[in-house]
Amino acid sequence: MTTPRIEFGLKPSTQPLPEKEREAVLAAPGFGRRFTDHMVTIRWTEGRGWHDAQLEPYAPFQIDPANMTLHYAQTIFEGLKAYRQADGSVATFRPEANALRFQRSARRLAMPELPIETFIEACDLLVQQDVAWVPGAGEESLYLRPFMFATEVGLGVRPADEYLFVVIASPAGPYFPRGVKPVSVWLSEEYVRAAPGGMGEAKTGGNYAASLVAQAEAAGHGCDQVVWLDATERRYIEEMGGMNLYFVMGSGADAKVVTPELTGTLLPGITRDSLLSIAADMGYGTEERRISTDEWREGNADGTITEVFACGTAAVITPVGSVKSARGNWTVGDGEPGELTMKLRESLLAVQTGQAPDPHGWMHRL
Ligand code: PLP
Ligand code: COI
Repeated sequence: MTTPRIEFGLKPSTQPLPEKEREAVLAAPGFGRRFTDHMVTIRWTEGRGWHDAQLEPYAPFQIDPANMTLHYAQTIFEGLKAYRQADGSVATFRPEANALRFQRSARRLAMPELPIETFIEACDLLVQQDVAWVPGAGEESLYLRPFMFATEVGLGVRPADEYLFVVIASPAGPYFPRGVKPVSVWLSEEYVRAAPGGMGEAKTGGNYAASLVAQAEAAGHGCDQVVWLDATERRYIEEMGGMNLYFVMGSGADAKVVTPELTGTLLPGITRDSLLSIAADMGYGTEERRISTDEWREGNADGTITEVFACGTAAVITPVGSVKSARGNWTVGDGEPGELTMKLRESLLAVQTGQAPDPHGWMHRL
C-alpha cells in the first residue's frame, strides 16, 4: 500500500531577515547559532496519523509544563546538509539515509514513523524556501535539523498519543572553531554512552545528555572531545560525542581504513557509511571490526596505526591528533592531519559540493 502524499500548507514569513543581515550571518556562520526564516511542521495524532503539514515562519513553541517530552524525553533528531553545487544549484547529501535512520530511531523510542518521502519533501520545501541561506562557498552548507517530540500533556509513562515533527535550518561553517586542526581526545573509562539493549543506535536527545558530564571530564583533562568505550569491558573504541571514528592502518597504497563495527551501541553514521564506499572506490582496503584501546596504543607506538580521524555530518572529517587516558597518553602519528585523512575529506566534500562525479547517486538535487 502506498502512503497518500501529504499536502503542505504554505505560510511564508512576512518578516524575513533583511538581506544585509543575512549576508552578515553567512559571512561567519559558525555552527547552530542562527536559524533561517522558516520551519516545517507536521503533526501526528493517534487514530489520525500525520496531518497539518505546514511551511511557516520560524517561531518559538508554547510548551505546557506537563508536556511529556520535558519529563520522559521521547524525542529524536537528524542532521543533514544542503550544499551549494559547482553550477550554483543546491543539493542535499543522502536525505533518504537520514529518513531511514529517523524511522529506526522512532521505532526504538515507540514513536510514529514518518514516511521517507514526507521527510525528504519537508527538507526540500524548507531548503527551497530559504535557499538564499545556503552559503555559496566550499564546505560551508545549510545544516538541516529534522526532529520529533511528544506533544501530549500528562505525566503517565507511556508512548504519547501526539507528536510534532519539525525541520529547522541553520547555516554552518566548521563545527570546531579551530577548523580542520587535529582534536585531542579523552578515553572515558568512568562514563559510558550506551549499553547493549539501550538507545545507542538511536539519534535521541538522551544520548547527548548522557555525554555532557564525560565531555566536561574530557575538557578537565585538557581534551577537546570524549571517546566512548564499550559499556561491558570498557576496552573497545565505540565513537565520539557526535562523530564516528576511523583508524588508518599502514600507509601509502597499502593503507587500510578500519572503523568500529556497528554493535548496536553506536550511531550508524551516514558519513561513516559513505567513507567505506569512498575509500574502497579509491582502492583502499576497508574493514569494520572492534578495535581495543590496547590495539590503538600499541599500534600507534609500532607504526601500524598511522592516522585516526572522526567523521560526521557536522564535523565532516576531523583529524585526531592526541589521546589521553587512564592508561597513558600518546600523539597520533606526528600529531598533524594525516595524508589519507585529508584525501578522504577532499573526496567526500568534492562529491557533496558537486565538484566530483557522484557514482553512488548520493546527491539529492532540488
Ligand atoms: N555518532 C554520533 C553520536 C553522532 O551524533 C553523529 C552525528 O550525527 C555521528 C556519529 C555521525 O553520524 P552522521 O555521519 O550520520 O552525521
Ligand atoms: C550531526 O553531525 O548532525 C550531529 O548530530 C552531531 C552533533 C551536532 C550532535
